[in-house]
Amino acid sequence: MLTPIYPLTTNRNRDGVLEIGGVDVKNLAQQYGTPLFVLDIAHLDSVINDFVEATTTLENPVKVFYASKAFSQSTVLRKMVDAGFGVDVASEGELRLALLSGVPGEEIILHGNNKSLVELELALESGVSRIVIDSFDEIEKLSALCSRMNVTADVLLRLTLGIEAHTHEYIATSHEDQKFGLTVYGGAAEQAVVKILDNEHLNLLGFHYHIGSQIFESTGFDQAAVRAVEFMQVLHAKYGLRTEELNIGGGFGIAYVATDDPLDIRLMVKALSEKILKETKTRGLAMPKVSIEPGRALIGGAMVTLYEVGVVKPIDIDGGFSRLYVSVDGGMSDNIRTALYNADYSAMIGSREALGNSVVSRVVGKHCESGDIVISEATLPSDIAPGDLLVVPATGAYHYSMSSNYNLMTKPAVIGVLDGEISVLWKRQTLEDLLKLDPNLEK
Ligand code: LLP
Repeated sequence: MLTPIYPLTTNRNRDGVLEIGGVDVKNLAQQYGTPLFVLDIAHLDSVINDFVEATTTLENPVKVFYASKAFSQSTVLRKMVDAGFGVDVASEGELRLALLSGVPGEEIILHGNNKSLVELELALESGVSRIVIDSFDEIEKLSALCSRMNVTADVLLRLTLGIEAHTHEYIATSHEDQKFGLTVYGGAAEQAVVKILDNEHLNLLGFHYHIGSQIFESTGFDQAAVRAVEFMQVLHAKYGLRTEELNIGGGFGIAYVATDDPLDIRLMVKALSEKILKETKTRGLAMPKVSIEPGRALIGGAMVTLYEVGVVKPIDIDGGFSRLYVSVDGGMSDNIRTALYNADYSAMIGSREALGNSVVSRVVGKHCESGDIVISEATLPSDIAPGDLLVVPATGAYHYSMSSNYNLMTKPAVIGVLDGEISVLWKRQTLEDLLKLDPNLEK
């Protein structure tokens, strides 16, 4: 079965123009320009609701922390908090945005493999509920800071569990040869636990792991849960440690193209919670409070990118095969995922009904390099032409947040649509914003 990949409220109006949230995309492009990120607020609300139901109706409710690195923006963060979720931040910028958006410190978790003193200090000052320790150096750094500030920090320790998650190498994070966490099997995690338990400024509440991102199979999640509980058992037996919290990270995959088949979040969360309960019970341990940190699964499917087509060029390739190159007015500066992870996408014309047959196409950007590809294998109507608006779905997570100013292109705007109303979430960056960072330019 094909998975729906366009936001829930997407439909074509009588003039053949695509509408999202009751607003037609031509109108959006005219008012806000392209490239443009468009968030379907009703879609986001519905996904948030799915997560609320999936996590609060369990025998042992699971707490959700939205991974704000996926898309950090005040309206979205407030929605998460209103739903009862916390927020995971991984930099001073994300932390400050969360605080300024009104996320209470006690709803925030701070991550990072190389947190700065400024980040740690801000976290302690603002009452961030959990700092996730990622190294021995951090134990020293945080403890010295707590001592100077005369406070105690509630911490989780990030574990590396030797899991090979089935996803792209760059977004797998719990195998041994990568930068995050401390290994359970090499003994480093246990040494870190001993150090933290000995430290009067640090209060170890439990553990964190995140096995990777865009995962479609439950095996890795299951294995990780078992390994974490085994570790908890060792610590209980040796040090009498009672693990109060277990944060199992995010990583739940979404559909980018219709043939993607993601896990059902309700079934997944239920199965994982039950697995952890069973594993702890068998080992005579108390069930810890479980939390998850989804980013992509909350925001990814709720947004599309709107581009204007500028150039259409058929290219003959060896063997009599030809490919239609469709150049749009953005590219790797607003979607680096194709170049970085070989990610798949699809697209359709939003500004009119398509007439031509489908042809093998490649959607490319306007940057000065040949790897500037938005969709490597696209099927588009043969009548696609300059001026058409192209809509690429599932661009809510890690698109705006990973956007760049390559070729001094400005970051697109992000707008929200709901019942015919438009709200600006991030204004379009202007060239003036960019150029003022060079103090050597003539005024
Ligand atoms: N928790 C931690 C500690 C993380 O590092 C991440 C993602 C998440 C939660 C959320 O993962 P999610 O549920 O969104 O998969 N830029 C890549 C993804 C890198 C994710 C990094 N950490 C991409 O575009 O696919």
